Amino acid sequence: MAAIKDSVELLGEVGRRIPKLFGIATGVEGLDEMFFSVKIEDGKARKIPLGGFPSRAVVNLTGIPETGKSLMGEQFAIKQASLGYPVCFVTVESPSAFVVQGMRQRALAMEIDWENIEDKIIMVDAASKPTLRENLKTFLDTLEFAIDKYDVKNVVIDSITGLYEAKEMMARGIVREVFNFLKRKGQTALLISQKRSGHEEETAEAAGGYAVSHICDCTIVLGKRLILSKTAESMFKIPIGNIMRTIRIDGCRLCGHDTSTHLLEITELGLVKVGPKLEEIMKR
Ligand SMILES: Nc1ncnc2c1ncn2[C@@H]1O[C@H](COP(=O)(O)OP(=O)(O)O)[C@@H](O)[C@H]1O
Ligand SMILES: [Mg+2]
Repeated sequence: MAAIKDSVELLGEVGRRIPKLFGIATGVEGLDEMFFSVKIEDGKARKIPLGGFPSRAVVNLTGIPETGKSLMGEQFAIKQASLGYPVCFVTVESPSAFVVQGMRQRALAMEIDWENIEDKIIMVDAASKPTLRENLKTFLDTLEFAIDKYDVKNVVIDSITGLYEAKEMMARGIVREVFNFLKRKGQTALLISQKRSGHEEETAEAAGGYAVSHICDCTIVLGKRLILSKTAESMFKIPIGNIMRTIRIDGCRLCGHDTSTHLLEITELGLVKVGPKLEEIMKR
């Protein structure tokens, strides 16, 4: 077999094609500041906040049920739409109308006018159309149609796990193809993946094994824990009987990031926001 010569290039040649690195606002208070880049200032390397997800990153957002994954996905979509950037929101579990009902509440809480976003979020209902969940080619063709028609810049898939339900050994192939497609289309994307309760709480492993986190550019892990002891109560300053939610950026190959675990708070209006580091709370 002949060599594939155009797969071999000098660093400098590839360097001329590097996409510009900048932040894509996440719509989650405190999360934009958890990503940073490095710049040279006065001859010294310095850490500069990125102000959002790294542009064109495919981000894996994982956690067990009720940790805030869908809220984060919706807040990201609403924020980007409010800035004028079209977002394709693929719903795989809950039919569009129910997701949009929640989004309306989220937009109100974020004080973003519905009129500003209603023609900027493109809903793809894979929950109601089994073919979209079962046939990957049809799924990607449909996504491409939506992206091209509406000049989409960002994609949320809630959840990618729904595309390989009952066929988890195919997870790797499916996630790889979706990842390659999103890269080719230049999208900044949030792939929500579900952890099963059998998965260790703190790992990035999702249903389908480690496929998603290995392939994606960046992994964010959400966790939760019921506070049931006096010790936990005084350690985390959360009253007994309440749930403590956490957020951690597990890795990101496109830029630097905060590595500590933070509290993830849900405001009384139903928005998630990043709270203090656990280490800070325990020192109090
Ligand atoms: N308006 C609200 N007020 C308080 N809690 C809320 C509100 N909306 C959602 N929640 C809670 O937020 C949690 C996370 O929800 P969600 O993002 O749907 O979780 P998942 O990780 O399963 O997608 C749920 O436990 C839910 O009860
Ligand atoms: Mg959800």
